Amino acid sequence: MHHMNRTRLSVRAVASGLVLLLGGALVLAQGVPAALDGYMTWLRLNADTVTENPSGAHPQPKNVYVNLGPGELLTPEGSFVLPFPDETIVVKERLDPEALWVDRIYVMEKIEGAWSYGFYDRTADGTFAGQDLGTDNFCSGCHQGASGTDFVFTTYERR
Ligand code: HEC
Repeated sequence: MHHMNRTRLSVRAVASGLVLLLGGALVLAQGVPAALDGYMTWLRLNADTVTENPSGAHPQPKNVYVNLGPGELLTPEGSFVLPFPDETIVVKERLDPEALWVDRIYVMEKIEGAWSYGFYDRTADGTFAGQDLGTDNFCSGCHQGASGTDFVFTTYERR
């Protein structure tokens, strides 16, 4: 995500502590790359919020979104068209199980044929802080486990 524009969006209308999911607001919180603006309107891979995943690496409630339309993303059988094209962004939002607000945003972005990874954490004042970790790190190490699906674990759920 090194090329992402880090312009800080105005969230003056959003009171501190109210972040991301209110009434489908299309603004992102401060501190999140502008390229992710409106991600919650993208295609969601999971049909319903995933709340049970005891063995997963990211065990909290979550949703996974991608910035591709169904026609680009899926074969007629509903599996992914592989590999994902450059500029694909996959966002996993992790929800605090108590507050049910987004407390971390995981990102994978395809840049020149390689996934770049990053994550952004909710801070006490409701803004987000995080970083682009690049292509070679502990994220990519574990995502090797999904090498058969271009390093993306989550599948598209029919609905
Ligand atoms: C220990 C293994 C592991 C590590 C480390 C890991 N992930 Fe994942 N990641 C997974 C698994 C498994 C899933 C599938 C959904 C789930 O279980 O939460 C996933 C899902 C995702 C998704 C949704 C797309 C997909 O592959 O399903 C994103 C985006 C993501 N991870 C980003 C990251 C980032 C960024 C990091 C590093 C900060 C990271 N992951 C570290 C295992 C890992």
